[in-house]
Amino acid sequence: MTDTLDDPIYKTDALIAEDIDRYLEVHQHKTMLRFITCGSVDDGKSTLIGRLLYDSKMIFEDQLAALEADSRRVGTQGQEIDFALLVDGLAAEREQGITIDVAYRFFATEKRKFIVADTPGHEQYTRNMVTGASTADLAVILIDARKGVLTQTRRHSYLAHLIGIRNIVLAVNKMDLVDYDQAVYDGIVKDYAEFANGIGIKAFTPIPISGFRGDNITGLSANTPWYKGPALMEHLETVEVDQVSDREKPFRMAVQWVNRPNLDFRGFSGQIATGTVRVGDPIRVLPSGKTSTVSRIVTLEGDLDSAVAGQSITLCFADEVDCSRGDVIAASDNPPQSADQFEATIVWMADEDMLPGRPYWLKIGTQTVTATVQQPKYQVNVNTMEHLAAKTLELNAIGVANLSTDRQIVFEPYAQNRALGGFILIDKISNATVAAGMLHFSLRRAQNVHWQATDVSRDFHANLKNQKPAVLWFTGLSGAGKSTIANLVEKKLARMNRHTFLLDGDNVRHGLNKDLGFTDADRVENIRRVGEVAKLMTDAGLIVITAFISPFRAEREMVRQMMQPGEFIEVHIDTPLADAEARDVKGLYKKARSGELKNFTGIDSPYEAPEDPEIRIDTTAMTAEQAAEAIVARIIP
Ligand code: ADX
Repeated sequence: MTDTLDDPIYKTDALIAEDIDRYLEVHQHKTMLRFITCGSVDDGKSTLIGRLLYDSKMIFEDQLAALEADSRRVGTQGQEIDFALLVDGLAAEREQGITIDVAYRFFATEKRKFIVADTPGHEQYTRNMVTGASTADLAVILIDARKGVLTQTRRHSYLAHLIGIRNIVLAVNKMDLVDYDQAVYDGIVKDYAEFANGIGIKAFTPIPISGFRGDNITGLSANTPWYKGPALMEHLETVEVDQVSDREKPFRMAVQWVNRPNLDFRGFSGQIATGTVRVGDPIRVLPSGKTSTVSRIVTLEGDLDSAVAGQSITLCFADEVDCSRGDVIAASDNPPQSADQFEATIVWMADEDMLPGRPYWLKIGTQTVTATVQQPKYQVNVNTMEHLAAKTLELNAIGVANLSTDRQIVFEPYAQNRALGGFILIDKISNATVAAGMLHFSLRRAQNVHWQATDVSRDFHANLKNQKPAVLWFTGLSGAGKSTIANLVEKKLARMNRHTFLLDGDNVRHGLNKDLGFTDADRVENIRRVGEVAKLMTDAGLIVITAFISPFRAEREMVRQMMQPGEFIEVHIDTPLADAEARDVKGLYKKARSGELKNFTGIDSPYEAPEDPEIRIDTTAMTAEQAAEAIVARIIP
């Protein structure tokens, strides 16, 4: 439907008053521009937003609620909000419990609907800006004409560009305070162009404005006769949005859910990320690669012949093809790739530093997998764009790192497809969103390394030793008695002709893990390597006993997941800190208390006790010998 703007029924306020349903319907078919404003309060951001809302016919909150409810009703998704993608994208983060300070405002003119994300401009809030920008089509970078291009202008522009925003408006504000002087304006535009070129921003639209006086906001101002471009609102109303160019791209839709109300109907629902789909189109389901053709495109408003990027639909296929939530439906002759190792940009959003090697949930489109990030290749100074060496990423840091996922994911580089290239990382224990990221490309080395089948199987190894492989994973404070009890357990098992191997923390740190210290990141890597070694040893049919503090639940859980079901036996050597410290066999607690030894577990480094270990040994209630007996009795019936 095209808007017939002269028809009074399309006049916003009249329409709201007369027929809200009709109004909503009209608005459903207008294009939507999602944009973000960047700048600080001092730059006049609030004034500008206020003016945009005031000069357009802003819809009031309750009407916005009605609009949301309406999109919910017409959407194929049941609870998805059709147009409010910005807000939608964030719902996931909100569920994950991250506090992000972004305000979204909705307004509409007769030509377009707008959602503007307003974020605090202060330095610390990279994560807010990235969140606000994550689904925006355009960024308005505000500059105070009296101050020119500042560090924060550069930072905001860099972030907007990084997030993939290709429409940048340079709003040179407060022109009234520099007497509408063209020379001042031209100087700022020239400065900005130089910087923008350097970071790869190909084009931007500069506009001299005064948010306070209203110059060049809704109409061209008599105060700037030398300015020949569009007024801000006109530009916002007419600039081509990504949704339009997204239609030209190959077809991709992530499956949000399988719609199967009865035996006669089976459809796959989701929102089209890119491209166009028509009835009869050949499609491919990924990662399986199965093909079929589209038999129906269903919406609650009826069947369609075709649908485009941004629409929420349900697809039916001509054949019975396996397809479930997380799969991607794509044009069959031009499907996206799958891979499990990538290079990516990561924006760290949590208060705790990133831990290379720690398993996080990675959510991309509708797929959720486990991912680990390697030590960053570099971190970017967002004020100067310099690349800095980094071991980890702190809150609001941006870096580039390789990451790997536990299974193949369907993806496209972020630069080509934000929906299939953008991801978030979620802490597995707290469920908080800890990072946002953008995939650059898959690592070729992953494509060239394949699993080699070997003939002597792990069962064969185990049978030869006449035993069931297992990992007895001892965890507990330093000095809890792990090594002592583990040693007794191994002796007992050896006497019973069991084939065992004991991996002890201090010993492994003399060789394989000589390069690691006691930072959180090093401890994570320590456990990751030991987990891998223990896994190889179980493949060889051994009963592996490990004695590491292994202070973090996440890594103990990771090792558990690496093993065959039932093979991982967590043994908590539960000694109160006071007892371990009183014994202080190695004198380390004394050093830690005096400050001579940093990051000591239990003193200034955390220990996360197991919540539900297979075996818990209360060392205050039994001797080491009794503990060893109890453990052996549990595993050898
Ligand atoms: S872990 O935390 O990475 O699992 P691991 O078990 O390998 O630790 O090593 C712990 C042993 O290293 C301790 O028993 C102690 O002898 C020694 N050690 C030296 N510095 C520290 C420290 N800062 N924190 C804990 N243990 C330390």
